Amino acid sequence: MTAARAYDVETVRRDFPILSETVYGKPLVYLDNGASAQKPRQVVDALRHVYEKEYANVHRGVHRLSQLATEAMEAARDKVRGFINAGAAEEIIFVRGATEGINLVAASWGRRFLAPGDEVILTVMEHHSNIVPWQFLRDEKGIVIRVAPISDEGELLMDEYAKLFNPRTKLVAITHVSNALGTVTPIAEIIRVAHANGALALVDGCQAVPHMTVDVRTLDADFYVFSGHKLYGPTGIGVLYGKAALLDAMPPYQGGGEMISSVTFEKTTYADLPFKFEAGTPHIAGAIGLGAAVDYVASLGLDRIHAHETDVLAYATERMKALNDVRIFGTAREKAAILSFSIDAIHPHDAGTILDREGVAVRTGHHCAQPVMDRFGQPATIRASFGLYNTRAEVDRLIAAIGRVREIFG
Ligand SMILES: Cc1ncc(COP(=O)(O)O)c(C=O)c1O
Repeated sequence: MTAARAYDVETVRRDFPILSETVYGKPLVYLDNGASAQKPRQVVDALRHVYEKEYANVHRGVHRLSQLATEAMEAARDKVRGFINAGAAEEIIFVRGATEGINLVAASWGRRFLAPGDEVILTVMEHHSNIVPWQFLRDEKGIVIRVAPISDEGELLMDEYAKLFNPRTKLVAITHVSNALGTVTPIAEIIRVAHANGALALVDGCQAVPHMTVDVRTLDADFYVFSGHKLYGPTGIGVLYGKAALLDAMPPYQGGGEMISSVTFEKTTYADLPFKFEAGTPHIAGAIGLGAAVDYVASLGLDRIHAHETDVLAYATERMKALNDVRIFGTAREKAAILSFSIDAIHPHDAGTILDREGVAVRTGHHCAQPVMDRFGQPATIRASFGLYNTRAEVDRLIAAIGRVREIFG
C-alpha cells in the first residue's frame, strides 16, 4: 500500500467535484454511498488518460497502444490483488460487479460441483444478488437453500447458524456487511465453521471493501466478490476473487474470445486463469479506473477512513436516537457506515422526496434485500449510507431535513 497521508476530510472532499454541486439550490449532501459512491478526480483522470493516451484492445495486439493498455489493465489487476491481499493476480477475475461474480460462481462451480440435495447456507440479510443465483440452482439442480436467522438487533444468531450445517452442506454464501442494516458479520468465524464442516465460503464484500481492510488470505475466504462503483471506481467493473485451485477446477462461465487457448470445430481448449473467466473484450478502462480507485483509497488509508466513518456513523446514530419518532433498523454491536430508519408512520418514499428537496440524497425502499425487510415487518426503510467524504455537519443537515419532513407530514 502507498504511504497514507493525514486524514483531513475537507481536503478529501475537494477530490470529489460533484460534492460542490447544489440540488434545488441547496448544497448536496450525498448519503447514498451504499448504492454507489462518487468518483474522485484521480479516478476520472485515470479514465481520461486511458481514452486519450493509451486506449486499444488488450491481450492481442502487437502494436504499442495495445501493449500499453494491456500493461495498464494487468497493473490494475495486481493493484486489486494487493488491495485484498490475494496470493496471485490470476486469482482476480474482472467481472461486471458483485452480481456477476456471484452468478459466475453459482453457474460454474455450482453446476459442476453441486448435486441434488446438496445444501447452501445463506442468511436472511443477503442482497438479492446473493439469493437469486442460488435459487436458479435450486430450480435447476434441486439443491437446498438454508437461511440463517438474525436477532432483532440485526446480528447473526451464531448458535442457530451452526445448527444449519450437515454433511450435505457444500457452501456458505454470506455478506460481509449488510447493505440494509449495516451489520458487520463475523466473517472469519463463519469461514472457520464452514471449513470445519467441509464447506466452502463465498463472501459478498460489496459493502465491506470501501470501509475496512480486507485480507482474503487471513480470512481464508474461498471466494470474495465486490463492485468497483461502490469503491469510488467506475460502474461496470467488479472483482471475483477465488482460490486458484478452485478456479482452476471450475469450467468457464461464458464462451468467446479471450478465454480460449485454441479453437477448432472439433475441440476448444481454454486459456489459463484469469482469462478463462473473462470472455470477450473486457471493460479495459473500467479495470484501470478501478486500479486508480484502489490507489486512491490506499493513499488515504483504510484505517483512517474506517476511523473517520465510525465517528460519523456514531454521531448520526446518537442524533437519530434523540428523535423519538425515528426507529433505527440494525443496531448490531459492529456496524459499518449504514443507518436504516423510518420516521413514525411516514412512508419512506415520501420522506425521501422531502429530504431530496433539502439537498439530502438517501435511499428509500427495500434495498434489494426484501427478506430482511420482511424479517422486520417493514416494506421499506430510509437508508443513509456514509462514505469517506461525509461529515458531522452533513449529519446535522440530515437531521434538520428530517425536521422538515415532520413539518410537512407530521
Ligand atoms: C451487499 C451487496 N451485495 C451485492 C450488491 C450488488 O452489487 P452490484 O449491483 O454492483 O452488482 C450490492 C449492491 O447494492 C450490495 O449492497
